[in-house]
Amino acid sequence: MKATIQHTQQGIGLYIHWPFCLAKCPYCDFNSYVAEQIPQEAYAKALVQELQTTLAEIPKVPLTSIFFGGGTPSLMLPSTTQILIDTATSLLPVSENLEITLEANPTSVENQKLKDFYHAGVNRASLGIQSLNPTALKALGREHSVGQAIEALTIAKKIFPRISFDLIYAREGQTIQEWEGELQEALALTHDHLSLYQLTIEPGTIFAKQYRQGKIILPDEELSTAMLTITEMITSQYGLQAYEISNYAKPGAESRHNLTYWQYKDYIGIGPGAHGRVTLDQTLYATERHKNPVRWLEHVQQNGHALSVKEALTPAEKAQEMLLMGLRLIKGVQAQQFEKRCGMALTDAVNMSMLSALVEENFLSWDQECLKTTPQGRLRLNAILEALLK
Ligand SMILES: C[S@@+](CC[C@H](N)C(=O)[O-])C[C@H]1O[C@@H](n2cnc3c(N)ncnc32)[C@H](O)[C@@H]1O
Ligand code: SF4
Repeated sequence: MKATIQHTQQGIGLYIHWPFCLAKCPYCDFNSYVAEQIPQEAYAKALVQELQTTLAEIPKVPLTSIFFGGGTPSLMLPSTTQILIDTATSLLPVSENLEITLEANPTSVENQKLKDFYHAGVNRASLGIQSLNPTALKALGREHSVGQAIEALTIAKKIFPRISFDLIYAREGQTIQEWEGELQEALALTHDHLSLYQLTIEPGTIFAKQYRQGKIILPDEELSTAMLTITEMITSQYGLQAYEISNYAKPGAESRHNLTYWQYKDYIGIGPGAHGRVTLDQTLYATERHKNPVRWLEHVQQNGHALSVKEALTPAEKAQEMLLMGLRLIKGVQAQQFEKRCGMALTDAVNMSMLSALVEENFLSWDQECLKTTPQGRLRLNAILEALLK
């Protein structure tokens, strides 16, 4: 990796999608597939190719983060990770403290590869632990045990300067006391960052079918609200503050890459189905890649990239996206930054009489400079956005 430089120019993040998993989890609707044998070499070559083609077409702005997401990127060969990092950092200037995250599933084989990922350049591991309860792990269809999850954390803590892990809560049959116990246990194992997601039923998943058939019953709104409230309370007792609806960190340990999305800054997305938001000649474009890995590979092999969408965004589209992202953040959306990015005033982008009503009902706070959700508002974010957007 080349030497870091300091740059005053706005930076850019890089997302790299790895679409393969060992098994499909019944709750998951991410763009992920189970392959009998992963065509490692062909995918490595195509990802590097797509990265090179893409970087040749964008201005040389400093790279602020790289995120290997999936699917299960810990199934990648560490040599693939290394060549992608080297390619990106040789074609773009690198900002100070370049954050390089890799999502890893805690099976034994993958645990043994963590050191190699570190040597490849990864400096932040995000582990998909999901639960510390063996019965729940089974119900979530996970391929690893609680023991393997703890082993992954122990190994990762010795290797990486920064680690985070994911848990899913508000699961079927989970009581508030059970979640409190599991969360306390998790916090005792935590370094400085946690992602805590309430289970959602996603269309097209096995859970969606079981939910329709009445085989899965989730906590009602009152219980999930109470669970979120105690989650924010307990994590803060351990020094981890909520900075986004599902993300908790010690000050300074926030995920810089994910902040790029929530603050609506530029990022490149490569790999099957990856999205990007890239500014070219002062116009913000939404980009998308072919979603199906086989199609994606064919396109890259033929054209050097698998871009399926490149669309200039209108001020209204940008405004909608920036609010969708920014209101997830505890700090909310700054009016000045909003206007600069979207080319329209925040007060013109939202229904102002609805905004006043939502402030009155204590779902939003607005002081002419910053619009943010209250804890109560965060629990009903989708409904609030629907009401607010013109
Ligand atoms: C890209 S996914 C998975 C990363 C990795 N393959 C894994 O399974 O750990 C990122 C995270 O989203 C969360 N997630 C996925 N589907 C979810 C759902 N239906 N409800 C709540 N959380 C979900 C999980 O915590 C998961 O770790
Ligand atoms: S949750 Fe992770 S391991 Fe499971 S199917 Fe989704 S991406 Fe793959």
